Amino acid sequence: MATTLVTGGCGFIGSHFVRYLLQRYPDDRVVNFDALTYAGNPENLRDVEEHFADRYRFILGDIADSAAVMKALHEERPQLVANLAAESHVDRSIHQPRLFLHTNVLGVSTLLDAARECGVSRLLHVSTDEVYGVAEGEREFREEDALMPRSPYAASKAGGDLLVGAYHETYGTAVMTTRGSNAYGPSQHPEKFLPVIITRLMEGAKTPVYPPGTQVREWTHVEDHVSALDLVLRKGEAGGIYNFGSGERRQNLEMVRAILPLFLRGEDAIEFVDARPGHDARYALDSAKIRKLGWEPRRRLQEALPELVNWYREHESWWRPLKDSRDYQDHAMRHYGNSALKRDLSGEGRSVA
Ligand code: NAD
Ligand code: DAU
Repeated sequence: MATTLVTGGCGFIGSHFVRYLLQRYPDDRVVNFDALTYAGNPENLRDVEEHFADRYRFILGDIADSAAVMKALHEERPQLVANLAAESHVDRSIHQPRLFLHTNVLGVSTLLDAARECGVSRLLHVSTDEVYGVAEGEREFREEDALMPRSPYAASKAGGDLLVGAYHETYGTAVMTTRGSNAYGPSQHPEKFLPVIITRLMEGAKTPVYPPGTQVREWTHVEDHVSALDLVLRKGEAGGIYNFGSGERRQNLEMVRAILPLFLRGEDAIEFVDARPGHDARYALDSAKIRKLGWEPRRRLQEALPELVNWYREHESWWRPLKDSRDYQDHAMRHYGNSALKRDLSGEGRSVA
């Protein structure tokens, strides 16, 4: 029975990854090491705790805490480690950049040291397309392109990527890096764009869009995201970097306009709010390398978007406490500036289109 240690398993992608591993490898164990920040939600893995109790263990811990990480590795002796623990929201990084360095740089460095010391066979570093910066014109980023991060979040992730490269060169650490595009799917925190759109429309309110709304993102379903992580964890070349994206590139306003009809709402439900500082206008990835390894995205926006809307409709008890939390309200008040969202939160009345 092999053991995989997943960090950040209570987050959005992490929880899908933990479930995927337990279902796909019925003889293996999964240990989930998570600090349970605002983004870590044990509810995401309730079903796993019930159905896979004998092969699943949760450990509360911070990946930047060397003693805690070493203890977990000594106890569990995992052959594989996948790091999905991160501060992941660009908007929050604009207000609290140092927090991002703690987890995304110091945390990665701690894991690299601990994995080396404990003889972990393979370590997966989960990074992002944002490390490349803006993909101008028709450009698609390739793995060897320069890192040009433009937000504190992206810079902190790029810091992790550089450490990973250095450890591979210096110590021969068998560490692989993925740079995935925007993930979407069930149980994504309501601070992120698609859940913002859907939950705001469910509330009969307007949806905040950073002007001009023509920014492009490449949307990859979380099921395809986790299959890419698993493939690279097991089959990726040590020291290798793997981009992946579905190829489904859309402007932000296109995404809003695809969802509006599902709520019988029109253009007046769009509210342009203050721009995100340093907003990257376009991401696009060349995914040829991982496709050669055998990865193929299966989900398409056309069927997955209505399914996603239904998931949030059916799981208000999941997202409502997150949106009502002091943490989210503070973030929204600080971030959205002089917008209808801020007026709603401060009790000046809900803006119904
Ligand atoms: P998330 O914010 O939903 O979850 C992060 C998880 O990490 C939470 O469970 C949180 O409790 C945990 N965590 C945070 N700091 C920790 C620490 N110091 N120690 C231990 N646990 C800690 O994130 P996500 O969207 O699932 O992203 C997972 C990874 O995938 C991140 O590395 C992110 O950069 C990357 N990524 C995300 C996307 C996306 O669109 N969501 C796309 C590409 C890459
Ligand atoms: O590209 C991969 C990245 O995708 C990951 O590394 C990050 O962890 C993940 O959060 C995501 O980053 P983005 O900044 O692209 O995602 P977000 O959902 O925050 O925003 C998507 C787009 O929507 C972006 O252009 C900003 C815009 N947006 C977002 C919010 C929250 C709005 O217009 N209004 C909003 O209220």
